[in-house]
Amino acid sequence: MKQGHQEDWLLDDRFLQAQKLVAIGELAAGVAHEINNPLAIIRQEAELILYLLKDRETLVREEILTLGDSLHHIILEVDRCTEITRNLLDFARKRDPVIQGLELNKLIEDMARLVEKEARLKNIAIIRRYDPELPMLFSDGPQLRQVILNLLMNARDAVGQDGAITVTTRGEGDGVVIVIEDTGCGIPSENLDKIFHPFFTTKPPAKGTGLGLSICHGIIQRLGGSITVASQAGQGSRFTIRLPFLSPIRSA
Ligand SMILES: Nc1ncnc2c1ncn2[C@@H]1O[C@H](COP(=O)(O)OP(=O)(O)O)[C@@H](O)[C@H]1O
Ligand SMILES: [Mg+2]
Repeated sequence: MKQGHQEDWLLDDRFLQAQKLVAIGELAAGVAHEINNPLAIIRQEAELILYLLKDRETLVREEILTLGDSLHHIILEVDRCTEITRNLLDFARKRDPVIQGLELNKLIEDMARLVEKEARLKNIAIIRRYDPELPMLFSDGPQLRQVILNLLMNARDAVGQDGAITVTTRGEGDGVVIVIEDTGCGIPSENLDKIFHPFFTTKPPAKGTGLGLSICHGIIQRLGGSITVASQAGQGSRFTIRLPFLSPIRSA
């Protein structure tokens, strides 16, 4: 019996390692693709600048303006690369969870307030349905904050203008359930199984890197929980997180 369990464990472990390799391959391909686009633009603009500077003694006003435009483009693309690498570092920095006692409702409220200022300007209401009886949660505060903020910002982006984001907490069994729902654009069924993949995004380059949900998924998994989505195009989305009251202490 004991032997059998050990083999199961080994198989699981090998399976996980293989899955990790696939994920790393996908990630590397994604990074290469994401960085290549800005690099191609930077090169093209730099060539244009060189070309214009060939006759630098006789540059006309229009050409000087074009130079300025090109440099502006280069800066934008460099910023985009910086954003990608910053997100990637977050993604790669898979530190072991640091478990501490948390008041979950307060943690969520802090994040809701961060998003609320901008949401108000766009007439997006944030509706709170916190369970006042929720016992203390033993989990990793900073990582949970990051997850909640990512989900709230996605909800805000999905609503755009005029709508609502509803945040619910409740105890269930030996854990807690957090639901973040929005009245936004929803997710077409063909995208539902892609949204947790690194670099999957439907947003324009300046708005999204497609790393948010894959980071959330990794964090929640390491905290011993699960994150799921229910959504239909045009019908809003509902993200549900389940976490045990006590997150397991294990290495990433
Ligand atoms: N609340 C939501 N409503 C509709 N679509 C969403 C929502 N959250 C995430 N998505 C979809 O999942 C994609 C991936 O999200 P994410 O990983 O956070 O990356 P990003 O926000 O940078 O695009 C988004 O581009 C969007 O298409
Ligand atoms: Mg996002």
